[in-house]
Amino acid sequence: MAIKSTPARYGAVAILVHWTSALLIIGLLMSGFRASAALDSATKASFLRFHVPLGVLILALTVFGIIWWQFADRKPESLPGDRLQTAAARAVHVLFYVVIVGMAASGIGMLALSGAGSVIFSSGTAALPDFSNYAPRTPHGFGARALVALLVLHVAGALYHHFIKKDRIFARMGLGR
Ligand code: HEM
Repeated sequence: MAIKSTPARYGAVAILVHWTSALLIIGLLMSGFRASAALDSATKASFLRFHVPLGVLILALTVFGIIWWQFADRKPESLPGDRLQTAAARAVHVLFYVVIVGMAASGIGMLALSGAGSVIFSSGTAALPDFSNYAPRTPHGFGARALVALLVLHVAGALYHHFIKKDRIFARMGLGR
């Protein structure tokens, strides 16, 4: 498989970034919602010990992806479809970048303002602060729901191409031939 994309399919780097990001986002949504629902500080900290490094990792991967597309690679041609579908798919892709960077920024903001990092990553028994007292908690919560909505739209679009239009969209992203 070529490192860079061709007009017909994504290259190895783009495929690796795409599926790694998908796994990280699922892990982040699950650990984030579990942390926020946790009733005691120790349980919340145990989810955040996993959540925070994943959040920093997805930020680094997303910045790498933006640089990769800007300077090193070119997206394959859009699959045939009407103008509205093509525009909707592009909008969802751009919004993914915006929401992921916003989520990472608000998450880092929450930790910086609350000083919770030392509690999460220490072996002590200090209680975590109430994150809802810090402004970035609100956009972090909205962003999480927006990300779930974007994922639903993105997966629905891919399944529509696969099952209805039968244009082998998954093969473009490395699944199948
Ligand atoms: C794309 C990246 C991220 C995603 C998808 C994500 C997802 C989530 C979700 C779904 C929640 C629960 C929201 C709710 O119930 O309203 C949450 C909470 C939280 N996240 Fe993230 N997050 C990301 C990045 C980060 C980063 C980078 C940090 C810290 C450096 C962070 C720290 C937190 C904290 C402290 C909470 C609050 C838990 C609570 O209120 O109990 N997140 N996140």
